[in-house]
Amino acid sequence: MTTQRPKGRGAKPPIVLIANGPNLNLLGRREPAVYGKASLADIERACRKRAQGLGLGIDFRQSNQEGDLVDWIQGRMGQGGGIIINAGAYSHSSIAILDALTAVNLPVIEVHLSQIHRREPFRHHSYVSRVADGVILGLGAQGYELALDAIARLIAKREDA
Ligand code: DQA
Repeated sequence: MTTQRPKGRGAKPPIVLIANGPNLNLLGRREPAVYGKASLADIERACRKRAQGLGLGIDFRQSNQEGDLVDWIQGRMGQGGGIIINAGAYSHSSIAILDALTAVNLPVIEVHLSQIHRREPFRHHSYVSRVADGVILGLGAQGYELALDAIARLIAKREDA
């Protein structure tokens, strides 16, 4: 599915921020039995390809610092598009990220590579889920591509409203 918008010269595709939190830079080497063998660079490549087919641009980022995620989210305020976020361990602790996501008022899809509800109890609660339009869990790297499909629809719906 491609989002419906003018395709003339100068028409810019909506941007999806794909924000990755702490330790996701280690994907591929970090607990592969839990998080899979794909590296973050592999995931970024797959996202770029999928986004192109959907008529979306992506801004794919990773940081181990909570404040970076807050700054990137704030940077999308008033810009349209949407946000896909795997906040890693900050999902379970960060009210600051929740507040930033609430403030920008854009479509949000939360992704976790692992099925967090099958894991330790401290991973069962996510602050991000309070504001997410949808949550994709346990499908590994594929979850990011599914999140792009979902956010394309949410962005198109907002544009039509
Ligand atoms: C994770 C799950 C979190 O509990 C963990 O802290 C991560 C990765 C996931 O993608 O499965 O860093 O967000």
